[in-house]
This record gives sequence, C-alpha cells and structure tokens, in this order.
Amino acid sequence: MARSDGGDPEPDREPDREPDRPDVNELAPRFAVVLDALGVEPGHRVLELGPGHGVLATALLDRVGQDGAVHLVDRSEKMLNAAVARNRRATDDGRLAVTIGRLQQVDLGDACFDRVVAVRVRELWTDGDVALPRIRRWLVPGGRVAVGLDAPGGARPSTAVEALVAALTDHGFVAVVASTVTDASVVTATAP
Ligand SMILES: C[S@@+](CC[C@H](N)C(=O)[O-])C[C@H]1O[C@@H](n2cnc3c(N)ncnc32)[C@H](O)[C@@H]1O
Repeated sequence: MARSDGGDPEPDREPDREPDRPDVNELAPRFAVVLDALGVEPGHRVLELGPGHGVLATALLDRVGQDGAVHLVDRSEKMLNAAVARNRRATDDGRLAVTIGRLQQVDLGDACFDRVVAVRVRELWTDGDVALPRIRRWLVPGGRVAVGLDAPGGARPSTAVEALVAALTDHGFVAVVASTVTDASVVTATAP
C-alpha cells in the first residue's frame, strides 16, 4: 500500500510494519499528547469528532485492539473518505464506523462510548453549549473526553483552553484538567 505522505516505503527499516498499525511514536505532537491523556484501553469504544484524514484514528484502532471499536464523525464527506481509505482493514473488520454530519446534529442513536476525542475542532469551544451536553450523553458514566487544541503561545493556557475548562465544568463534567506541551494543549474531563 502506498504511504499517505507520498514518501517512498522503507521495507528494510520496518519489515513487519502493517499499514494500519503505524508506530505511535511517529504521531505529530498534537496527536501524541491527546492519545496519552485519553487513556485508551483494549476493548474500548472510542468516538472521534472531526478526525480529518484519520491519522489519530489509526492509533486509536491500534490501542483498542480487535475487541474494541472506533466511530468517526465529521461534517466533511471528503475527510471521512480519506479516513476510511487510510484505515481500510479496520473498516472491513467492522471495527471502524463513520457518520457524516456536524457533531452538533448527528444522530448516533443510543450508541455510547468509553472515550470521546477531538483535535482542533473549534466548535467544541465556540459552540460548547450545544456540543458538550451531547458529548456527555455519548459517554458512559466515568468515560473520558480529551480535546486537543493548538497552543502557539507555548506553555501559557490559551483563552480557548480556559473557556473549554470552564464550559466542561459548567456542563457537569468532573476531573477537568488542562495541560500544554510543545505547541499543543489538551483538556480532559470525565463524565459523572
Ligand atoms: C482542523 S481539522 C482537524 C483534523 C484533525 N483532527 C487534525 O487535528 O489534524 C477539523 C476537522 O473537523 C471537522 N469539523 C469541523 N467542525 C465540525 C463539526 N462541527 N462537526 C463535525 N466535524 C467538524 C472538519 O471537517 C475537519 O475534518
């Protein structure tokens, strides 16, 4: 399979590497910090909002393993098609599902998840009064959400991080924690 970054494959360097199971250490910092904070375990059901090309989804699928599942929601059909193409094996296995639509409007039925994650999806903090109650309903009690944000200003929490922390608290989430490392912030919270 061709590499999504357009580079030449290097079979001698990593002969056993499968296309759907990349080295998580190669993830961009914004994904690595979120993945670390999310605490995904084998067997988990994970909802990713705004997955873009599905790079984080690949790592999530690796973490949940064969007994877990990942569901992607994105308003862009083009992005979801790219995410599915990137994670074709998991799609064929039935471990990856996708729903097209805005996170404020999609109907996921009575689906519930152990983890919800979103990276650089602005409407989580600009439209939190709609988005956050939905995330709380999608999470099982004790389930965790992690939201990744760019942090171009370095270690100081951005206005968006502060707003998100306040909004998650207002909407009844507990254990709301923000941290920032190298240009990336993550806010985590737990559903009561
Ligand atoms: C800036 S990109 C980030 C993609 C990926 N998470 C990353 O960090 O590379 C935002 C993604 O979220 C999707 N998106 C933005 N707002 C959304 C919304 N309200 N509902 C669903 N998807 C949304 C966009 O289509 C896009 O795929």
